[in-house]
Amino acid sequence: MRIRVLGSAAGGGFPQWNCNCRNCAGVRGGTVRARARTQSSIAVRAGDGQGAANGLAHAASWALVNASPDILSQLRAHADLQPARSARDTAIGAIVLVDGQVDHTTGLYMLRESTRPWSLWCTDAVYTDLTRGNPILEVLSHYCRIERRCLDLDGTGFAIEGMAGVRWRALPVAGKPAPYSPHRESPVAGDNVALLMTDEHTGRSLFYAPGLADIDEAAWRAMRSAECVLVDGTFWSDDEMLRLGLSRKRARDIGHLAQSGAGGMLEWLGRLPDATRKILIHINNTNPILDEDSPERAELGRLGVEVAWDGMEITL
Ligand code: MLT
Ligand code: MN
Ligand code: ZN
Repeated sequence: MRIRVLGSAAGGGFPQWNCNCRNCAGVRGGTVRARARTQSSIAVRAGDGQGAANGLAHAASWALVNASPDILSQLRAHADLQPARSARDTAIGAIVLVDGQVDHTTGLYMLRESTRPWSLWCTDAVYTDLTRGNPILEVLSHYCRIERRCLDLDGTGFAIEGMAGVRWRALPVAGKPAPYSPHRESPVAGDNVALLMTDEHTGRSLFYAPGLADIDEAAWRAMRSAECVLVDGTFWSDDEMLRLGLSRKRARDIGHLAQSGAGGMLEWLGRLPDATRKILIHINNTNPILDEDSPERAELGRLGVEVAWDGMEITL
């Protein structure tokens, strides 16, 4: 199984268009050593990437996990996502959504020219938000067909058509529905999921959770079972946005577990086996770990925790 990070930043991207925080101003002006990043999305394919060379049609099929507003530049950055087998083509075989947030769904509008119906996997809670609070799927149906597939939370897992060899499982995780959601302040199971993808040939798994407000027993079990965890790296500290005067909300209030402090993400990651690959993703532009010369980034280095970047690939 191959995982490609298409976008490693949280909502707003890095630098964010209207932001002049230290990181955004610094990366724009070249005074902070950091990589620009697009908004949160990964692509997953079965096999090790050698299949396409053997002419296997299914081998060119990627699952797009989350559709970010930056999807068009993300597709342009990866030539193999356009296999050009016909006048209109794409290597994206299916779309999976972990939530209904704007940074994970607005890219669907950019995919409206599809000549094939989109196979779209999401939970009932997300489907409701995307047909009522933000009726993006209603609008899209005027352009292309959506074949909605239900992301069940019963733990049985699912396989994506055309992606033989990868078993997927969705776990409800603590978090919040999107700000526009009619039930923003009363979350339900399925507003946010983590995904566990297992390569059936190698037996190796990825745990993916770009939004993770807390880690319950089931999420922790899944994290321990995975060879690689790609998890919420939004904020370094719980009061990061408050201290910068950019928001009145804490990380936890908007569904993200900060890295530092008691009970923070780094404590959890520190309890995983040394052999587990630990990577932070969905990084907010205010997070000091984006500055490659920061003490916070050095601390991650000491702990063996990586920071995802656009174009990063993981093979499991
Ligand atoms: C989040 O992950 O908390 C949201 O994507 C924030 C946003 O919509 O910008
Ligand atoms: Mn987000
Ligand atoms: Zn910023």
